[in-house]
Parts: sequence; structure tokens; C-alpha cells
Amino acid sequence: MPSEVVTEEAGLRIKWNDDGHTSLYTWDWILKHRTKSGALLDKEGLPVPKDEPAPIVHWGSEISANPPIVEYDEVMANDKGVGQWTEKIRQYGFCYVDGCPIDPKATEDLLQRIAFIRVTHYGGFYDFTSDLTMKDTAYTTLALPAHTDTTYFTDPAGLQMFHLLSHTDGTGGASLLVDGFHAAAELKEQDPLAHFALSRTPITWHASGNDGITITPCKKFPVLNYGDTAEGGTPELQQVRWNNDDRGVVALGEIDGMGAEMWYNAARKWDETLRRPDMAYWAQLEPGRALIFDNWRVLHGRSSFTGKRRICGGYINRDDYVSRWRNTNFTREEALKQIL
Ligand SMILES: [Fe+2]
Repeated sequence: MPSEVVTEEAGLRIKWNDDGHTSLYTWDWILKHRTKSGALLDKEGLPVPKDEPAPIVHWGSEISANPPIVEYDEVMANDKGVGQWTEKIRQYGFCYVDGCPIDPKATEDLLQRIAFIRVTHYGGFYDFTSDLTMKDTAYTTLALPAHTDTTYFTDPAGLQMFHLLSHTDGTGGASLLVDGFHAAAELKEQDPLAHFALSRTPITWHASGNDGITITPCKKFPVLNYGDTAEGGTPELQQVRWNNDDRGVVALGEIDGMGAEMWYNAARKWDETLRRPDMAYWAQLEPGRALIFDNWRVLHGRSSFTGKRRICGGYINRDDYVSRWRNTNFTREEALKQIL
């Protein structure tokens, strides 16, 4: 319990009863941690606005008319370029980088402008052609429906980059992107019960196609993962986990009053939503145009193709990407205010 509270220019200084030590809570800190009912007011009696980033932009197939793009030279030149790049990724969940040299090393250097590359059981930065050496559907020529990668990790990969270096002796292989946050909002509006089932039923995920590899998260996770509820507001969707090939079965027992049948009905609705033409953004990857997307938000897929494709790319951890975004878009002081 406080024994003394003194108002100072810098903040509130509190002397504690138990051991007599004092603490200084700066006004900035108090503003950041105020409760909704205790919102601070300015001199005019109006609520003091929080210094918050711009809202994210939901999109559907119409994004094809004006997709987010930055220039390779600008990203490589300075941190301002990285700030513009990471801000577009944060707002849209994906971004192209035009003018990228058609070269794996230059693409790796580009990806490392955000953060170090995440190594998995598939390796780090990859440069592969379509064969089955890794025993994964990504290494085939098959069509792949919209999915997120690495659902089987406790901490799925944050960003993924693809750069098509060449496509010879064949056609097809259009890339598919779907805004998972937009799809979840649509599902919630059209079928609240299905949305509820997918956000409340933890299920298993696994990677077990390669000898010696059996990866599964430390606990079960739902398809739609929501964050904390801050100040009595609505929790925000943080992460979509969706890869039907890596999904375990749903337990027959009831969770929150829901049985397996309800979950499978919800999953069918979710799949139908993801396949809606107005949700799907199809584009052909081109050499010289690298694509990066937020694997916690945007699902990816592709149509089948013929011939031989060479693609390079890699993953970046979510936390390291967000840290880089924060530190290239805000001053150090502003960045610290966002997390303390
Ligand atoms: Fe994938």
C-alpha cells in the first residue's frame, strides 16, 4: 500500500508502506497503462489520443488492381526503405519487391534487410526446383489450395518470401493469396457459430513426412487465434493456422459445448469462404519481382504447372519482423512506448 503519493512534473512519485522505497511512474507510462474508465483527458477535457499505428487494410480479389509494391533499390539503400516495406507488409499482409536481381544471393540479402533467416528442418534460405527431395507437396508440380506454412510449430514462421528465378519448358503455376483476416471477418459475419468453433477448438498439427522428423506444437491451437482483450475492447485476430495436410483429427469429445461434427461443419464453411472468387488474388510470379507475405495472416497456394520452376526464398520469425517494422517506422522512444 502507498504511504505517500506526490504529483510531480515527471509523474507520480509513490512511497510504499512495506519497505519505504519510492517509485516514479512517468505520465507517459500512466497514459499507456490507464484503464478505459480512467482515460486521461487533455486541457480541453478531450480524451488524449493514443499514438497508434494506422489500421490494417482488408482486401479481396480487387487488390489485383493496385497491389502493394516497393522498389528493391530503395529497400537496400537505407532503413527508410525498409520502413516503407515493412509498413506495407503490416497493413496488407504482403508486398512485392520490384527490380530484384534474378539471383539467389541478392534475394537472400533482400530478405535479410528485415531480419535473420529462420532455419527449419528444410534448411534456411532455399533455392529449389520442383522435385520431391523434401517429401513435401510444395516441392511437386501439384495445385495447392490456400494454406499457411508451418502450422506444426508452436511459433509458426512469420514472413515468407518467394522469388521465381525461372520457369522453363512449361506453363501454369499462378500464385494464390487470400487475406485470412478478411476471410475470418466474413465468416464471423455470415456464420458466427462456425467462426466461434474455429476460434475456440484447439486441434493438433504435425510435420511427420520426413524420416526422423515428428514436429508438433507444445499445445493444441485453434485455426483462428485471437489475442488478449485490451481495456475491455474486442480481441484482435492474431494468427490463422490452416493447412489441411498438416492437420490432426478433431477429438470426438466436446469442447465448450461443441462436438467434432460442429467443427467439421465449420471447417467446411471456412474452406468455402477461402475458395470464394472474390477472396482469391491470383497472380503470376515473375523473375525480378520478389513476393513477401505475412504467414500468420495471408494464406498462399498455387495452380498446377508444367515444366521446371526454380524458386528461392525463406522464412523470418514473426517477432523479429515486427521489431524491425517498429524500429524503422518509429523513433526509439516511440517504439519503447508501444511495448512498455
Ligand atoms: Fe506453403
